Amino acid sequence: MSDQERVVLREMDGKIALITINRPKALNALSMEVITQLGEEIDGAERDGAGAIIVTGAGEKAFIAGADIKGFDDVPRTQLPEFAKFGQRNFGKLAEFPGLTIAAVNGFCLGGGCEVAMCCDLILAAENAMFGQPEVNLGIIPGYGGTQRMTRRIGMQRTLELCLTARMVKAEEAVRIGLALEKVPAGEAVNRAREIAGMALSKGPVAVKLAKRAIHHGAELDLQRGLELEADLFGMSFHTEDAVEGVAAFIEKRKAEFKGR
Ligand code: CAA
Repeated sequence: MSDQERVVLREMDGKIALITINRPKALNALSMEVITQLGEEIDGAERDGAGAIIVTGAGEKAFIAGADIKGFDDVPRTQLPEFAKFGQRNFGKLAEFPGLTIAAVNGFCLGGGCEVAMCCDLILAAENAMFGQPEVNLGIIPGYGGTQRMTRRIGMQRTLELCLTARMVKAEEAVRIGLALEKVPAGEAVNRAREIAGMALSKGPVAVKLAKRAIHHGAELDLQRGLELEADLFGMSFHTEDAVEGVAAFIEKRKAEFKGR
């Protein structure tokens, strides 16, 4: 399949993988093909040694406008939970990816699009970004993790408001309620994402992965078990060549040269 035909593109720039959803005429809606290829490209990025992933949408109008509504009739009614889990599994690869993942949101980020973004560690909102879980407009509910990941990210009350009313949120409000990290000028989301990814990639690679694991997995545990997990991973971080190098570099007043070991 040529690059033109692929609905999900991946470009490697050193250790940064830029993954672009490429169905601009359908506002990058998540067809089965998009979901499958997105999963493949996340796996491919890891296989090719990416340390960070940026996800964005082709065109200026949309990041992703949601699940492909026009494809709903193709899903046998008995297979709907499986259909939801297929998306959850593929998008969940962004949360499970060991390095930093960033959604560079340009335009509509609705339904399944917001669910993809919320699988990323960070969400950057371009000036024209518009977030929402509008599924109740269609008489359905989010199925790719929205009700669960949004609650964990921004709290239950705001999640209830957004999922039950389908109200859309602009970039500024998305930042205020903690859905997005930063508002950036239109057209600048990917550049800013590269900048942040570059900062993380300049640090101890094993430490960055362990910190992500401690934060994500710890959030699912009670405080005591979370603290135990942190203590174990803290110990593990010291047993790396990177820790020897990082501490030595500080004492010798030079820049650390991490090897990712
Ligand atoms: N699925 C399929 N096609 C979509 C789509 C979607 N989610 N969103 C937009 N499109 C298509 C439109 O049908 C249109 O195609 P045609 O040119 O062939 O008619 C094209 O993209 C451009 O869209 P519009 O003409 O509607 O553009 P607009 O600027 O007038 O409106 C919009 C933009 C407000 C985002 C509007 O397109 C819209 O409301 N889209 C649907 C958003 C939505 O409900 N998302 C949730 C989907 S359900 C879901 O995601 C469930 C889940 O969690 C699993």
